[in-house]
Amino acid sequence: MGKVYVAESRIHGQGVFAAVTLKPGEPVLVLDDSREVTPDDPLRPADGEHRRFCDFLMGGRVVLMQPPERYINHSCSPNAFVKTFDGLRYVIALKMIYMTEELTFDYCINSRGDTLWLCNCGSPRCRHTVHSNFFQLPFLLQLEYLPLLDTWFVRENQDQIQTLLQKALR
Ligand SMILES: C[S@@+](CC[C@H](N)C(=O)[O-])C[C@H]1O[C@@H](n2cnc3c(N)ncnc32)[C@H](O)[C@@H]1O
Ligand SMILES: [Zn+2]
Repeated sequence: MGKVYVAESRIHGQGVFAAVTLKPGEPVLVLDDSREVTPDDPLRPADGEHRRFCDFLMGGRVVLMQPPERYINHSCSPNAFVKTFDGLRYVIALKMIYMTEELTFDYCINSRGDTLWLCNCGSPRCRHTVHSNFFQLPFLLQLEYLPLLDTWFVRENQDQIQTLLQKALR
């Protein structure tokens, strides 16, 4: 039996839920990054390939997330995050996630997106209007999320991360 299942979410549409209790730091899923979206192999909406399921990775690489991970919703108080080890991306529990609880990411982690959207996560920490760019987050939240950033994102944004660290040391 897998550690998660897909079901209707109170946040949006379908979501991903814990089938078992997950401990902080526990790997939950390995992401299937095999479907790369390229100019030669673009999205095929007729096959259910939609932009909302895309993940924007290192060097401008775009992958179409597969089920179940494509159904993980955003929360401003996330309980999971993604980290790459040995070339594989893992979903990792950030906190204790109890059976039947919804798994969530903060979509701004590892993102340099330029969209503004309205959040329905319902968390007491909800930012309501979310700008999908890590560097637009409040300063203290950027610091809180620093350990969660994926290695490729840190590498690609070294200068801004250096500036953030210097500001924190002042
Ligand atoms: C990767 S999909 C997540 C799965 C989605 N619930 C579904 O059923 O297709 C990302 C999309 O879900 C919606 N979404 C995720 N988290 C949300 C949130 N906290 N508030 C509002 N919409 C959200 C947005 O439309 C976003 O583009
Ligand atoms: Zn929110």
